[in-house]
Amino acid sequence: ALRDNTIIVVLGASGDLAKKKTFPALFGLYRQGFLPRDVKIVGYARTKMDKAEYHKRLSSYFKTNDDPEIIKAAEDFKAVSTYISGSYEEPEAFQVLNSHLEEIEAGYASKEANRVFYFALPPSVFVPVAKNLKEQCYVANGVNRVIVEKPFGKDLDSARELLSSLKEYWTEDETFRIDHYLGKEMVKNLLVLRFANIALGAAWDKNFISNVQITFKEPFGTEGRGGYFDEFGMIRDVLQNHLLQVLSILTMERPVSFSAEDIRDEKVKVLRSIPPIAKEDTLLGQYVAANGKPGYLDDDTVPPNSICPTFAATTLWIHNPRWEGVPFILKAGKALNEAKVEVRIQFKDVTQGIFKDIARNELVIRIQPSEAVYLKMNAKTPGLYTRAMPTEMDLTYKRRFAEAKIPEAYEALILDALKGDHSNFVRHDELDVAWKIFTPILHWIDGKNGARPRPAPYPYGSRGPKELEGFINKYGFKRASDSYVWPVTNLA
Ligand code: BG6
Repeated sequence: ALRDNTIIVVLGASGDLAKKKTFPALFGLYRQGFLPRDVKIVGYARTKMDKAEYHKRLSSYFKTNDDPEIIKAAEDFKAVSTYISGSYEEPEAFQVLNSHLEEIEAGYASKEANRVFYFALPPSVFVPVAKNLKEQCYVANGVNRVIVEKPFGKDLDSARELLSSLKEYWTEDETFRIDHYLGKEMVKNLLVLRFANIALGAAWDKNFISNVQITFKEPFGTEGRGGYFDEFGMIRDVLQNHLLQVLSILTMERPVSFSAEDIRDEKVKVLRSIPPIAKEDTLLGQYVAANGKPGYLDDDTVPPNSICPTFAATTLWIHNPRWEGVPFILKAGKALNEAKVEVRIQFKDVTQGIFKDIARNELVIRIQPSEAVYLKMNAKTPGLYTRAMPTEMDLTYKRRFAEAKIPEAYEALILDALKGDHSNFVRHDELDVAWKIFTPILHWIDGKNGARPRPAPYPYGSRGPKELEGFINKYGFKRASDSYVWPVTNLA
């Protein structure tokens, strides 16, 4: 449940994450009445600003669409918002923050005081901030929580080092590690689709499934974010966290209950059955200029001659009785032809004999945009024919749930953290095993054991490197005949 007497402190309040995600999500929750009663929101960052300037900045983070109700809510939100500037390293600065929090708490009717600290910070200051908060801003009569977000290290060793440094100050129970894909509606839906439908659950294994693809496509490049991106690359940015999280929920066994530990126990178990990815199961790409759009290397914030991958496809194998032999292809790229994140489960061929060249069943779960679940299936061509044709059973959210408002991932996750629910946050051992799976290929890409692999070039706005089709086909994927087009793909 939500606790009264709560202060939410956003550290890094003037940065990019706070502006794009944290504050809009807090405002969304506030506006809909989901934040604790009498909540106060305190921003903290190095930038010196007075209250008026801070409030002006907050206003620029919110979309009000000229709606008087939203404008009013934005004014109310500002009325409960204050700002403190200070360094991330010095204990004295955090004493100032603490005094400010105590002043707010002095007005509470009861002694209980709860503090939630949101790290919208670069990883270089995670540890000093964690330490200073624990030593200067920790309350005794209530709960203290920290919300943190990737990057958690760059490989297994650095991640372990970071995690254990943070653990010196904050317990697992107090820590909420965000992977915002876990807050997305369709990712949360996976558990229900799988375990509340006996028909789907029955076909959910190597006997029926040929191959699985989890795909992330963005239509824009790293523009402006190249400095950050180049240090990490596509695998660390998206595959090792977001797509692997989706994979673990897609493939885990049924949890004993929906409690956080039961779910995360099963996720860890399936991840531990995945050996490190092999070089041969990897395809890397980097976008080049095309159609008037710049290449990755044309970005001023990217080092010249960088061979950082902006596209990566990797195939993972799960060594357990359910999944032995089924390839799981995770692929992600920047500067591609469209914006789309989806899971595509391709079933095996039906037994040959009465049908020839009939399309395979595919279950597609579209995470974004336009949430949908559809099953490609064959049916008799209507009319006086006996031919079969590929068609679909289609659950498109915009149509079926026209009135529903699907929350932003960060709204869902911040609310969970306020309630103390860890189900959709990453446990320390989950992170550890995720790094185990990816560290060997990352070290290979980083040139730790020899020559660095060169990514295949692909034009900005294309479907990826030309090698992609061959790569996917090698794992048994069969493309449906060209005549099949899903009729609702363009539903806005
Ligand atoms: C972030 C990555 O974690 O996820 C970005 O760092 C990426 O590079 C983003 O653009 C994608 O998130 P979403 O919610 O837009 O799919």
